[in-house]
Amino acid sequence: MSTLYYYDGHFYDEDPAKVSLEDRGHEFGDGVYEVVRVYGGRPFLLEWHLERFERSCSAIGLHNPLSREDWIRLIHEAVRRSHESEAQVYWQLTRGAAPRVHWFPGSDSKVTLIVRAQTAAAPTGGATLLAYPDERWAHVFVKTINLLPNVLAKESAHRAGADEALLVRGGVITEGAGSNAWFVSDGKLYTHPADRHILPGITRRLVLQLAQSLGIPTLERAVTLSELRNVEEVFMTGTTTEILPVQKIIAESSRLTQLSELEDAPPESLLYECVNPVELWAQTGEAPLTERLRAAFADAVAHCRNQSPMNP
Ligand code: PDD
Repeated sequence: MSTLYYYDGHFYDEDPAKVSLEDRGHEFGDGVYEVVRVYGGRPFLLEWHLERFERSCSAIGLHNPLSREDWIRLIHEAVRRSHESEAQVYWQLTRGAAPRVHWFPGSDSKVTLIVRAQTAAAPTGGATLLAYPDERWAHVFVKTINLLPNVLAKESAHRAGADEALLVRGGVITEGAGSNAWFVSDGKLYTHPADRHILPGITRRLVLQLAQSLGIPTLERAVTLSELRNVEEVFMTGTTTEILPVQKIIAESSRLTQLSELEDAPPESLLYECVNPVELWAQTGEAPLTERLRAAFADAVAHCRNQSPMNP
């Protein structure tokens, strides 16, 4: 089986297409989500994902209908039924269906969950990132299904032949469109603090632990565009991205001021082509620290695969 679906208490082998047209996720993006990676049939770092999920729900006053134990049982059951041992589990919770009003109408929240096969992140000679203005709302620590700014950033990167967008807010690098950003300078590892301007990645949390156990000096401090000249290594992290080494960072030359200043005039389009790319950073030598962390990450994955399954 390649994909397994769950909606509102039932499993399906095919997309049941049962979501109400008046679902608030559909009309307002009124919901939150998670993505968990499955290695060897075992959901990786599931407890951390559930912790973040619970924080997202409470941040937007969304009733979570399941206990932590119920979620764990549901996710294991879905993975078991999918027969996929290398997979990703996507789930979202919306405020449910009701005639469209902006305030909370007292509807029942609805769970959607999908298990889909996922192979290991492709080996890469190094990713290219397109710098893109981070003009999202100021609460991106909530893993909301409102991903339009991320979608536009990623599409602009895609059009530029880049692998990911690197979001920049007032000259400060925050994170990727779907990943967290890391920089090595003078033997130290830097990543944006887990404040309201980034999603506190679960992979980020693991990499912070791995760096500590490897004795790598780490600072949760943001890196600015102008500091890139002192940077020796860059990598991105995420549940499906794992640890992605970066080869170069480019920007569209006509959009450079937008990376440092929020303009008042509405732009013609939020999507853009990168017709005159400028290189903001390029990898010159080896990336030894990234490689050490990738090896430690691979060990953590191997450990997950070797654990005894919860639902044998
Ligand atoms: N994206 N930052 C953003 C904006 C993200 O969307 C993600 C994850 C991350 C990394 O978080 P984590 O390590 O918990 O996956 C950082 C997921 C995978 C997605 O939207 O598919």
